[in-house]
Amino acid sequence: MTAAIDVQNVTVRYGDVLALDDATLQVDAGRVTGLIGMNGSGKSTLFKSIMGAVRPERGAVRIGGLTPAAARASGRVAYVPQSEDVDWAFPVSVRDVVMMGRYGRLGITRRAGSADRRAVEHALERVELADLGDRQIGALSGGQKKRAFVARSIAQDAETLLLDEPFAGVDQRSEATIVRLLRELASGGRTVLVSTHDLHALPDLADEAALLLRRVLFRGSVREALTPERLAQAFGLERSAPRTANNAECSETAERTHPTEQTGETA
Ligand SMILES: Nc1ncnc2c1ncn2[C@@H]1O[C@H](COP(=O)(O)OP(=O)(O)O)[C@@H](O)[C@H]1O
Ligand SMILES: [Mg+2]
Repeated sequence: MTAAIDVQNVTVRYGDVLALDDATLQVDAGRVTGLIGMNGSGKSTLFKSIMGAVRPERGAVRIGGLTPAAARASGRVAYVPQSEDVDWAFPVSVRDVVMMGRYGRLGITRRAGSADRRAVEHALERVELADLGDRQIGALSGGQKKRAFVARSIAQDAETLLLDEPFAGVDQRSEATIVRLLRELASGGRTVLVSTHDLHALPDLADEAALLLRRVLFRGSVREALTPERLAQAFGLERSAPRTANNAECSETAERTHPTEQTGETA
């Protein structure tokens, strides 16, 4: 069986910076895969490579057997960018953002029809933003913004969803809503790849985990990924490894440790 997302030996450089070094990852359909790595480990670059937004110097990406360009053109892949990569001042309403998920289906001549509008309203309801459709996207809270982009993916009805740090700076309710939706989408056969540095959320969120540090160090079960040894390798820490899956149930916002904050930026 071909992997839903197949990243083969991808190397990406920005000038002198080697962002991905021979990264290989297969992601299966019907599962949520967590992509874990510290700041600067190449998570966003991996997503951009999968979307065809950066051109690898070596290696290849296929999404459902298609090139990134073909997968995008056919609307099969949806992408929720990290907040830093979005221009929140752009004057569009929440509903407009969600309607963008339908554009791939609209073609250049057809206008949004009632089926499109229904799909958009349904997606807004699923992310619990039905009341805020008219609001300017920049006027939402961090968690609401993320939910709006998740609604865009739902409206798009893509087979493959890529979410870059959807939990960064979001409230508990938004996180819980997004986790629940991603699990539902995976249960329905979608492929979900989501980056996070919130290790405590991982057991509830993901079926599989991949550890990234310019290349994929490990890919397998969440439990195996969260061993202190593997985390030390991924985060460059030999000590004070974050708590493992076994005691992750007791996570509370105030208690959360973010390994990236301990190690600082590498960029
Ligand atoms: N547009 C860019 N130009 C130059 N360097 C970049 C650019 N984007 C990312 N980088 C560098 O590439 C490395 C990987 O970055 P990134 O993929 O954003 O990692 P992550 O998402 O895991 O924080 C970092 O060292 C980062 O500074
Ligand atoms: Mg990033």
